[in-house]
Amino acid sequence: MKEHVQPVALVTGANKGIGLAVTQQLAARGYIVYLASRDEQRGAEAKASIERPDLDIRPIRLDVTDVESIAAAAARLKDEAGSLDVLVNNAGIAGQPLPPSQCDAQALRDVYEANVIGPVSVTRLLLPLLRAGQRRTIVNVSSELGSLTLHSYPDFPFAPVNLLAYCSSKTALNAFTVLLAKELREDDFKVNAVNPGFTATDLNGFTGKRTVDQAAEIVVKYATLDVSGPTGGFFTDGGILPW
Ligand SMILES: NC(=O)c1ccc[n+]([C@@H]2O[C@H](COP(=O)([O-])OP(=O)(O)OC[C@H]3O[C@@H](n4cnc5c(N)ncnc54)[C@H](OP(=O)(O)O)[C@@H]3O)[C@@H](O)[C@H]2O)c1
Repeated sequence: MKEHVQPVALVTGANKGIGLAVTQQLAARGYIVYLASRDEQRGAEAKASIERPDLDIRPIRLDVTDVESIAAAAARLKDEAGSLDVLVNNAGIAGQPLPPSQCDAQALRDVYEANVIGPVSVTRLLLPLLRAGQRRTIVNVSSELGSLTLHSYPDFPFAPVNLLAYCSSKTALNAFTVLLAKELREDDFKVNAVNPGFTATDLNGFTGKRTVDQAAEIVVKYATLDVSGPTGGFFTDGGILPW
């Protein structure tokens, strides 16, 4: 195993948006950060866009829907770093904006591949490296749109965003968070779901109100928890979100 004093993080979907801001903030805190992107060129361009040559940011190809690419990234990480401290499952897609009655199987499948099966596969294949690490921290970038409790309130500000595929994919990601946290609790893992808030990115045509730096702050907060931090929770800027 490689010796390294700096903690090591990997962020999926890190070539733009919230993932890129999380990458930069973690690196600024002294982490070696693997900037994972499904397209190698986009990853290299993202790294080049960060005007901080002092930061240790390493582009790596990883398509969360392609198990072979995840396995190849895991092999490189094992070889280069030997272990992983923090995994941020950030990659996600909005999919087609279809209400429940119009969402066809393929539309549902596409979003679940990226937003649910992707993080489950990435976590499974990187878990041995996380076990070998010191911090054993996983953050699943979820959304308040995944909260069934909030959707049941008529005055939920995002109630009109009634998109079956996207919303329920985040509900499923929350379920993965709870069940994985329960499984790994005895092994001192911290597994939490975090809502970055409505943020101006490609995902929503830059209609979001928050900046990517603001969104990244809450993700980084739960990516850098100390040993007394929570596990199995769903967090936002204001505190705990209902499931
Ligand atoms: N923006 C918001 O208001 C908001 C609110 C709540 C939660 N979120 C969540 O925050 C996360 C980041 O979203 P964002 O707003 O930053 O959107 P974004 O700017 O569209 O970024 C999404 C990232 O995910 C990547 N990605 C998509 N499919 C992938 C795949 N199969 N494998 C690897 N990477 C893939 C994209 O890569 P490409 O560039 O190659 O497409 C991109 O890097 C998502 O999980 C999203 O659901 C966002």
